Amino acid sequence: MEKIIFKNRRDSLIKHLPKNSALIVPGADLQYRNADSSYNLRQESSFYYLSGFCEPSSLMVLVNNGKSIDSIIFVPEKDKLKEIWDGYRAGPEGAINDFLFDQAFENNKSDALMPEILQGLEKVFYSIWKKNGFDQKVIDWTCAANSKDRHSKSIDIIDGSSMVGNLRLIKDKHEIDIMKRACEISAESYIEVMKSIKPGDNEQEIEALFLYEFAKRGGRFPAYTPIVAGGEGACVLHYIENDKELAASDLILVDAGCEYKMYASDITRTFPVSGKFSDEQLQIYNIVHKANLAAIDAVKTGNSIMEPQMVSEKVITEGLVELGILSGDVNQLHKNGAFKDFYMHKVGHWLGLDVHDVGDYMEGDEFMKFKPGMITTIEPGIYISSAMDVDDKWKGIGIRIEDDILVTDSGNINLTEKVPSNPQEIESLMA
Ligand code: GLY
Ligand code: MN
Ligand code: MN
Repeated sequence: MEKIIFKNRRDSLIKHLPKNSALIVPGADLQYRNADSSYNLRQESSFYYLSGFCEPSSLMVLVNNGKSIDSIIFVPEKDKLKEIWDGYRAGPEGAINDFLFDQAFENNKSDALMPEILQGLEKVFYSIWKKNGFDQKVIDWTCAANSKDRHSKSIDIIDGSSMVGNLRLIKDKHEIDIMKRACEISAESYIEVMKSIKPGDNEQEIEALFLYEFAKRGGRFPAYTPIVAGGEGACVLHYIENDKELAASDLILVDAGCEYKMYASDITRTFPVSGKFSDEQLQIYNIVHKANLAAIDAVKTGNSIMEPQMVSEKVITEGLVELGILSGDVNQLHKNGAFKDFYMHKVGHWLGLDVHDVGDYMEGDEFMKFKPGMITTIEPGIYISSAMDVDDKWKGIGIRIEDDILVTDSGNINLTEKVPSNPQEIESLMA
């Protein structure tokens, strides 16, 4: 059943890939943490989306021959000794029989065969600048293909990122079901971990608990390195040190989501280590919470992606003025971008096989409009580091609330709402 899903996706390129053109998609290579100790392979997302094939250093070429898509794949060769050490390899035969490719070759033949495959085509699409060293390979193959036939027009090389990106942007039912489960696993994991946190815990213990809760439910890997930031660490947007002890007076910001069947979830919650917000923490929290809810409401079919952005900026500006952290006219402050000292990132991003998923944010000169099947995060925040020129009582507070929102025909579904963001519910959960 799954094989057909991937084959259908390749076939659907007939609508997007011009006649007599090829799309080249390289797979991921093994990555090493140190010496010869490798990470588990994580297949490149577009390669996975179009193949379902998860062996390293593979390569896919999809050619529109005018009537259909010819699908060609290069894969690691069968090797009895390597298979004893590293496990089964499908080899070219398995790639055809089990993954429904039209042709398959060993990957050590790609330099010899790619010029033949590309010869006579008009255009070659691939994602430029994405894989180290790959741009040169495409240029070499294309030059070699051109030099085989000097009397024909030379082949154009074109960036194909948007072609696959915009297919991936609209999730099909199979993907939505997986992502719902990814979000549910992450939400349930938050609930378990939030109940267990206490002063004196180290951030790395909390990180380990998340990984454990994810894995217990089938999400062995996190979709990205979790951020577990107590106190002021939360004001470092990409904090991943995760090695400090949590004080009772701290808030803890956790940004963690599992990967499930290759798809990402992405949740942030900020909660008090003691289980009870201080007055100042709660005042800032309430602004971010209001911004999160208002921005989620603005995610609906037909709305521009700028609507949740604008609404979150407005609510945060208004809230900071009410607390005296910003002063002046709300509209003017918003126009001048005064909120950017406190809320310096965008309200969200596409979510899918990658946590910062592919897919354009513009359609021509206009911002993208939400369409059914898109999944976006909504993640406003306020970050007040101790270096800022504000009353001392606000310093060291960093808060973000992040949910994953599916756009539907009739509005949206918050896939992560199971984990509370309402402050009273958080306090009850942690009591
Ligand atoms: N977890 C990455 C992000 O929220 O963008
Ligand atoms: Mn995010
Ligand atoms: Mn996140």
